[in-house]
Amino acid sequence: MILLRISAFFLYLALILAEDVPRKFPDGFLFGTATASYQVEGAWDEDGKTENIWDHLTHTQPHLITDYSNGDIADDSYHLYKRDVEMMRELGLDFYRFSVSWPRILPSGFADRVNEAGVAYYHNLIDELLKYNIEPMLTLYHWDLPQRLQDLGGWTNPLIVDWFADYARVLFELFGDKVKYWITINEPKQVCYNGYGDSSLAPAIDFKGIGEYLCAKNLLLAHAKAFHIYNDEFKPKYGGIIGIAISARWYEPDSDSQVDIEAADDQWQFEWGKYSHPIFSETGDFPAVMKEKIAAKSAEQGFPRSRLPEFTREEIDYVRGSSDFFGVNHYSTHLVYRNESVYNVHPVPSFYDDMDVGFYQDPEWESGESETVKIVPWGFYKLLKKIREIYDNPPIYVTENGFPTHTGLQDDNRIRYYRGYLSALLDAVEEGSNVRAYAAWSLMDNFEWMQGYTQRFGLYEVNYDCPERTRTPRKSAFVYKEVVRTRTLDLDYEPDTDVMTIDEGH
Ligand SMILES: *[C@@H]1O[C@H](CO)[C@@H](O)[C@H](O)[C@H]1NC(C)=O
Repeated sequence: MILLRISAFFLYLALILAEDVPRKFPDGFLFGTATASYQVEGAWDEDGKTENIWDHLTHTQPHLITDYSNGDIADDSYHLYKRDVEMMRELGLDFYRFSVSWPRILPSGFADRVNEAGVAYYHNLIDELLKYNIEPMLTLYHWDLPQRLQDLGGWTNPLIVDWFADYARVLFELFGDKVKYWITINEPKQVCYNGYGDSSLAPAIDFKGIGEYLCAKNLLLAHAKAFHIYNDEFKPKYGGIIGIAISARWYEPDSDSQVDIEAADDQWQFEWGKYSHPIFSETGDFPAVMKEKIAAKSAEQGFPRSRLPEFTREEIDYVRGSSDFFGVNHYSTHLVYRNESVYNVHPVPSFYDDMDVGFYQDPEWESGESETVKIVPWGFYKLLKKIREIYDNPPIYVTENGFPTHTGLQDDNRIRYYRGYLSALLDAVEEGSNVRAYAAWSLMDNFEWMQGYTQRFGLYEVNYDCPERTRTPRKSAFVYKEVVRTRTLDLDYEPDTDVMTIDEGH
């Protein structure tokens, strides 16, 4: 009897433990972290670099930034890049995703003159990475447009397709033999909607219902042109890959009514399908629902043509298929509905008026320093599943995922976030999603755009009160390090956070 009880007890124990059995990542899966030039480099006017749209915005309209701060110095990575790489070695990373500042390489914005000091900086960074077997993943555009090009309309000027292509070619020529992973443009929606259709990111043009759509078409063509240049002229020689990084939230219907299901479907198509459908779908072009809705509203509003510009047949074919992988930046989930309350509440015309949906987040979901980055791992699972289903299971590179806190090294909520989202990623992989890489945002705290330094996304905390910008690993850094070391997600792992060391091999 006792024996029976004991064995029943062990069976029970085995069952509970089974839930928490450490899970392996697939062979060849790559782990990294990500940053962006303006958010970490500093040295905003050093060695020939000229003004970009973020220098301009933070210097001329500082009140737009929560703490009136800017990226003049930021993490000073322009001088401290060796410490950054040392942290990557501590974490044992496979790759580092960083971006290049356009005006640090091309001071006039155009390809008439290359700034040698800027080139040297990126060569030094890349060489330091390669010395320790950390693959550089280079983003060409993570939002630091030369201000002089913005003076000419920036992403709303169709000529930017050529300007960007010229810039891309310069980078492929300079770094093509060393860099095997390329990302053209980071987060098209934020570039176009927040920058041109709204004032929530630089250049804060706020030209609603027009700016974001002009930008979207030009941006997609610019991306495609860079892709084709790499594909035709550089890939045969160097054999790297190139893609785009699209920010995608998950939009969950608020109820199982057909109306809400349709609203959620409309929202993802407007928010990120706008950029993924032209590249990854079989038919190409903007999503049909966007073309129809915006054309109808434009006509009603008296516009002689749709505010959403059309692609020619040739352009559709040029953009379709222009990415070797689906780069996805993902942070959180929203609930979507449609009822009479969603109509006539937004400015006319505007992106949100065109879409006609209402969305919110469950107040029960845990958040950190940002009200909108709530911990909803199942949304990440559903997003990865959706991408697999609608685009015939493309290779996915998770190019950003992370959680904001404020200061402090005991970041158990960030650890909950990472564990939840990595579990969700593994759920999708077990069902067949072709996820190949994961970049935690971010290696270290940095200038969080309009939130300045009030939201901290770092595995390493940065001390902005001292000129050395001292970086200290948070608890989450130790947890991520163990995931990378073991290639396994062990939800019970409790790190010893006394000393961070560099393991053999790095
Ligand atoms: C519309 O739906 C939202 C979300 O379910 C709800 O909060 C709101 O009360 C509804 N409004 C109307 C007018 O039905």
